[in-house]
Amino acid sequence: MAEEHGGRRRPRLVLIASPLQGHMTPMIHLATFLHSKAFFSITIAHSELNPPDPSNHPDFTFLPLRDNLSSTSDFAGAVKFLQTLNDNCKPLFKQHLVNIVNAQKDTSSSDHQKESTVVVIYDNLMYFAGSVAGDLGLPSIMLRTSSASFFPVINIIPQLHQQGRFPVQGKDYRFNCFAFTDGSSEIVPELHPLRYKDLPFSGISIEQTLETINMIIPKTPPSAILWNTLEFLESSALTIIRDHYKVPVFTIGPLHKIIPTPSTSFLEEDTSCITWLDKQAPKSVVYVSLGSLAKVDEKISIEMAWGIANSNQPFVWVVRPGSVRGFEWIEFLPEGLVAEMKTRGLIVKWAPQKDVLAHFAVGGFWSHCGWNSTLESMFEGVPMLCQPFELDQKVNCRNLSDVWKIGVEVVVERGEIEGVIRRVLVSKEGEEMKERALEIQEKVKVAVSHGGSSQNSLKELVEYILSL
Ligand code: UDX
Repeated sequence: MAEEHGGRRRPRLVLIASPLQGHMTPMIHLATFLHSKAFFSITIAHSELNPPDPSNHPDFTFLPLRDNLSSTSDFAGAVKFLQTLNDNCKPLFKQHLVNIVNAQKDTSSSDHQKESTVVVIYDNLMYFAGSVAGDLGLPSIMLRTSSASFFPVINIIPQLHQQGRFPVQGKDYRFNCFAFTDGSSEIVPELHPLRYKDLPFSGISIEQTLETINMIIPKTPPSAILWNTLEFLESSALTIIRDHYKVPVFTIGPLHKIIPTPSTSFLEEDTSCITWLDKQAPKSVVYVSLGSLAKVDEKISIEMAWGIANSNQPFVWVVRPGSVRGFEWIEFLPEGLVAEMKTRGLIVKWAPQKDVLAHFAVGGFWSHCGWNSTLESMFEGVPMLCQPFELDQKVNCRNLSDVWKIGVEVVVERGEIEGVIRRVLVSKEGEEMKERALEIQEKVKVAVSHGGSSQNSLKELVEYILSL
């Protein structure tokens, strides 16, 4: 039956989720909100790689799309990965969407009511869905899961390239681990306070960079855009985005705090760290996690381990299996070091991150500054140690350290890391950072409460969908 609520016919929503952890989670939160609070019927189309668990969402219909992919790629292979994903998922999705539209028409005519439509909501990396919706004359809404501040950066890169200012010449700073000695530390005037070294795409060719930008910024804009961010946090970037797209932009973050869902983790969460955290002193633990995609060199991982060990602070360190190049897990660590580290902390494969960050014992988050991790840390008022790798992470890092002032950059060098950990956890500077983090936490809480900016934006979104 086509859904009706409050006397108004509701369109069926078809959501297209991406197989990346940092994209899947916000999409599932959005779907849960639109179903349980706004009473829309939900179909989730997803690749076969990293599928959501249907048993967690008995009210949704799931549509697996054949992708012929066996794993996600590292950043260097991202262009090819995204093209393959989009090319492979498109034909079956088109067939499904035609069927859904026809079924919706049948239901509407049998109900003798006004025909209700189908609205496509797609992750921006699953851009094939926007073009299929366009071909079928359906409205489409794009969900963006990176920071809004990333948009002005990628939007200006083609221009910087034409002017000979990008790619940045000098040291290879792909892994952002060592101090710079060249002009890459200069500010990009149009992007203040970002420096040339904060620009993304340093590990790939300019051709791949421009291709990636073309994929991320659609030529034909969708009907509307949803951004997993907050109005107060990124207002100037949002002005640029609204000016560029000229379609409604709804700021609906942080989605994980709008509505809870069962775990969306692709990997099994090691919950033993929560029991361990229960026994630690308040704000004493550094939580270390570099997200779901980053691949790290052995040398850097070893420096990280020494830094954690030498800081003498308790810790939880997530080493995702396969995240250290050439190793399955932590075989790269000398046995003696592992034994010493285990006296003061835990090394786990995957953690229940949101619960860890919410725990009273956690005093700092050493992160790659992925946007979900950044929002999750902000919501819990936890200051950050920033070790960005790619995409929006370097932009987020700069905002955390220089604009919001709730994070410090980590330089992965022997002797440096332990100092940064102690600066954040046990110094006056760290206390001040913590106070600012708590102020931001309060503002985020207001935004997601009744009458707050994100809640209002969600209400407007529901009205907008009903008007389509
Ligand atoms: C990357 C980008 O950096 C991000 O900005 C972009 O929007 C999506 O792709 P990723 O490496 O997945 O993201 O990082 P992040 O956006 O921080 O998402 C990671 C997610 O995994 C978070 O929701 C985090 O809570 C979760 N996580 C991570 C766990 O649940 N357990 C862990 O042990 C580590």
